[in-house]
Amino acid sequence: MDLSEIKFTRGVPDPVIFPKKHLAECACAVLEQHGDFVLQYGPVGGFPPLRDWIAGQYKVENERILIAQGSLQIVDTISRIFIKPGDIVYIEEPSYDRSITVFKRAGARLVGIPLENDGLDVDALSERLRMGEKPVLFYIIPDFQNPSGKVLSLEKRKRVIALAKEYDFWVIEDSPYRKLRYKGEELPSLFELGHDSVMHISSFSKLIAPGLRTGYVIAPLDVARRLLKFSEDTYINPSYLNQGIVHEFIQRGLLETNLIELKKVYAPRLLTMLDALDEHMSNLADWTRPDGGFFIGILLRQNSKADILWDRARKVNLHLSDGRGFFTNGYGEQFVRLPFCALTEKEIVEGVERLAQLIRAI
Ligand SMILES: Cc1ncc(COP(=O)(O)O)c(C=O)c1O
Repeated sequence: MDLSEIKFTRGVPDPVIFPKKHLAECACAVLEQHGDFVLQYGPVGGFPPLRDWIAGQYKVENERILIAQGSLQIVDTISRIFIKPGDIVYIEEPSYDRSITVFKRAGARLVGIPLENDGLDVDALSERLRMGEKPVLFYIIPDFQNPSGKVLSLEKRKRVIALAKEYDFWVIEDSPYRKLRYKGEELPSLFELGHDSVMHISSFSKLIAPGLRTGYVIAPLDVARRLLKFSEDTYINPSYLNQGIVHEFIQRGLLETNLIELKKVYAPRLLTMLDALDEHMSNLADWTRPDGGFFIGILLRQNSKADILWDRARKVNLHLSDGRGFFTNGYGEQFVRLPFCALTEKEIVEGVERLAQLIRAI
């Protein structure tokens, strides 16, 4: 039996399709055309032409935008400004493990709201709010959620916005996978449905390359001013060179062609994973069938211990993320996140087969 290493821990883009040659050309062009600006200290909001481009895309004033070193840094900045120790922050359960860490570090008391097939259980959210547990922030990943792959339905999006307005809390919409839809129609973002209540975060990490560390937030003007001031006091300004490269890449029409390229590679990998799950796991676990993104989250039916599964997986060279990291309060023993973008179709099939065998053996 071939036991080559398979890493279901790799929730990252496939480096094989990084557009290295184009990025090198863009870097030269930026240094030639904007060298004095990008190599100097400057305004914290980001490389002005990229800020203007984002403003045009979202039809907002550019003062409402902060471009930072990736979107996780923005989650951290928001946390440091808005969360005092003991404050309540709502998250989806499961949610992105790094954001959970950031909120905990800021001293938040996390409350997990469960997910259903069409995203958040809004009745559970509503009930929590009715009971008087008001959050300062509600962090949500509505499109191809990390780690579950789920998408929040339109009707639920409208209800989330209505609740944010009624109970007066901020919705942090983290949306790095939104443009990676392999089929079906895009739904309106929470930002589009209620931008007064929403801080919308996105990133070029999954659309070009994470190493460029270029993510952004759009917030109401008064909030944006606070984010900008805090960021300036923390790191003066972001790397304009990286942001200039992203801007040049976009100006050359390469973002659109890159997106087509990514979908060409990732869409078949998603289908391969769904087929492999249908074939090997149908009586062992449950999952939703995403139309995009990076992940399928599966919930094992049997009551196995994560540590045992993890250890046994290691022995057959299969690397799994610890499902408990995506939950608050130690849940997640039965949850396994399966990323499919950075694995070949052969690795996906082999990995799912190996996982199914392990679960059966336990
Ligand atoms: C939901 C979510 N938010 C934020 C990030 C971090 O992205 P960035 O590289 O823009 O910091 C990730 C990365 O995996 C993610 O899945």
